[in-house]
Amino acid sequence: MKEFVANTYGRFPVTFVKGEGCRLYDDKGREYLDFTSGIAVCNLGHCHPSVVEAVSAQAARLIHTSNLFWTVPQQKLAQEICRHSFAERVFFCNSGAEAVEAAIKLARRRGHFLLGGSYEIVCLQGAFHGRTLAALSATGQPVYKRGFEPLPAGFTHVRPNDLEALEMAVTSRTCAILLEPIMGEGGVIPLEDRFLELARELCDRRNLLLMFDEVQVGMGRTGSLFAYQQTPVTPDVMCLAKGLGGGIPIGALAASAEVMEFLPPGTHASTFGGNPVACEAGKAVFRALMEEGVLDNAKAAGAHLRQGLERLAAGHSAEIREVRGRGLIQALELKRPAPGLGGLLLEQGLLVVFGHDRIIRLLPPLTVTAAEIDQALSILDTTLKSIKK
Ligand SMILES: Cc1ncc(COP(=O)(O)O)c(C=O)c1O
Repeated sequence: MKEFVANTYGRFPVTFVKGEGCRLYDDKGREYLDFTSGIAVCNLGHCHPSVVEAVSAQAARLIHTSNLFWTVPQQKLAQEICRHSFAERVFFCNSGAEAVEAAIKLARRRGHFLLGGSYEIVCLQGAFHGRTLAALSATGQPVYKRGFEPLPAGFTHVRPNDLEALEMAVTSRTCAILLEPIMGEGGVIPLEDRFLELARELCDRRNLLLMFDEVQVGMGRTGSLFAYQQTPVTPDVMCLAKGLGGGIPIGALAASAEVMEFLPPGTHASTFGGNPVACEAGKAVFRALMEEGVLDNAKAAGAHLRQGLERLAAGHSAEIREVRGRGLIQALELKRPAPGLGGLLLEQGLLVVFGHDRIIRLLPPLTVTAAEIDQALSILDTTLKSIKK
């Protein structure tokens, strides 16, 4: 039946039927160690009992109403996001790209009414913000844009951590700077504190919005609830998705009340946004992270993973160029392209996100144990030895 599905993904030849914690099981009963978490989505592991229970109970009560009306789960999840961050207002949508789209619209509308029509957004080369047309325009990787031109105008891209380039890129046309505090899909590249501080300073000086895309690195992934909390700066706007719903699709745009005023009734909407089932899942994720010790585990497990990767890199210095990351988003950059490596690791029972032919991105669930990390490190070690031969 595979031929009925659009061929937009290069998929591995495996079909999964069950998940539990850090493990996935295929249709032949084989077990895999999942260090992708569905690309930073299942942050509590697969089928976390709190998420299953919250979703099942809400589905039996009320699945959907639209945003013509109020529901309590949406209000409560918005309150949780605000209680634990700089934000005071939340707009809900269904994905990362939609959260970025909402941020772009907010910045443009604010630029239109407050900054004399400024509309340009400064982004980074190598950034990834999603596949809708405006999010793609903000993305700093030409390979994803080819054939889709003309893309929406008004986005400039500077080199990450290049202070001079950032300063030069901000002009009277600029309305916002949009950054991933750690560039995930681009290769797990953390932005330097002084670069973030300069971005904050430029925004303050000109009354621009500093917008952080925390779609991949938010929700505990880096060892703090939000990645910005480990930097010296606080953004004005934050995009969330992926881990927010524990596996159920949801996205969010968070900002201060003053900034969110620029999206009054009728200016932006989403039929499914803030659906009660997704919001109950989000509430369960917050409970697990903040009250059931998952965030603490992420910190400890992140340190354990990092130490293991440093050891691995020292033992494979001819193959590994660098270990990068924070908390439980870590990457190994290889010195040479190894196109089939993702498949080799899968054969050994380890799932990773392998990109750009040389970046092994490790995104285990935040519930991962030290023993599971050691098992993954051992598979990486064996597989790297096998490609050396
Ligand atoms: C930082 C970042 N922003 C946006 C997106 C797009 O999210 P989605 O695929 O849910 O649209 C991604 C997806 O990988 C991402 O990593």
